[in-house]
Amino acid sequence: MSAAESPLEGPRLRLRAPRGEDLPLLFDWYNDPELVAPFDRFSVDTFEGFERALAEAPGDPGSLAPRYVLERKEDGKLLGFVGHYSAHPVLSLTDVWYVLGEATERRKGYGQEAVGLLVTHLFATPRLARVGATCDVANLPSVRLLERLGFTREGTLRRSLFHHGTWHDVHYYGLTREEWTAKAPAGGS
Ligand SMILES: CC(C)(COP(=O)(O)OP(=O)(O)OC[C@H]1O[C@@H](n2cnc3c(N)ncnc32)[C@H](O)[C@@H]1OP(=O)(O)O)[C@@H](O)C(=O)NCCC(=O)NCCS
Repeated sequence: MSAAESPLEGPRLRLRAPRGEDLPLLFDWYNDPELVAPFDRFSVDTFEGFERALAEAPGDPGSLAPRYVLERKEDGKLLGFVGHYSAHPVLSLTDVWYVLGEATERRKGYGQEAVGLLVTHLFATPRLARVGATCDVANLPSVRLLERLGFTREGTLRRSLFHHGTWHDVHYYGLTREEWTAKAPAGGS
């Protein structure tokens, strides 16, 4: 799985690998703590470091760099980005993450469409049995998005994420291949 793969096409969105000309906008989103991280940790990167992370991401399953940008098909506008990473040394845990960088475009179903496309893409890998996601317990939009897509809350990791000066509890969500196939037999979201 890599950002260099073919675009993923949904009804309104195309998810494609980030291009050089996208990077200033993506970097601006990354560097706006209220945009990307009201419920998350935040770390400012240099532009060079960000560029390097994106270039190295396709060969690194643990990379936190965006794998796809969300391009609206109608007008080509970039709305956000999504990624996935495998962080555990033993367990088969592949988690997705997502940001609607264009805040005025939130609550229009784009997040749901984008994560649905990403999940379908990840399950195209035969070895993957489960896709996961984490989110701060206070992050209602993220909770709603995951539950709407059929993710199950499997537990709450207490005091597992430090941001905005304090420890936060985080929900851990999972979705099995069988659940996803039953929900979207045609492979869509
Ligand atoms: C989380 C995020 C990606 C959701 O994207 P979005 O495009 O606004 O989500 P959608 O429009 O697809 O909505 C998905 C569900 O969440 C609900 N939702 C979205 N924003 C909401 C809000 N502010 N309050 C309550 N519910 C909300 C929607 O109503 C929808 O549920 P429904 O279908 O039952 O009505 C977006 O809010 C975001 O980028 N947040 C900042 C970054 C972030 O927190 N990322 C997740 C880290 S875990």
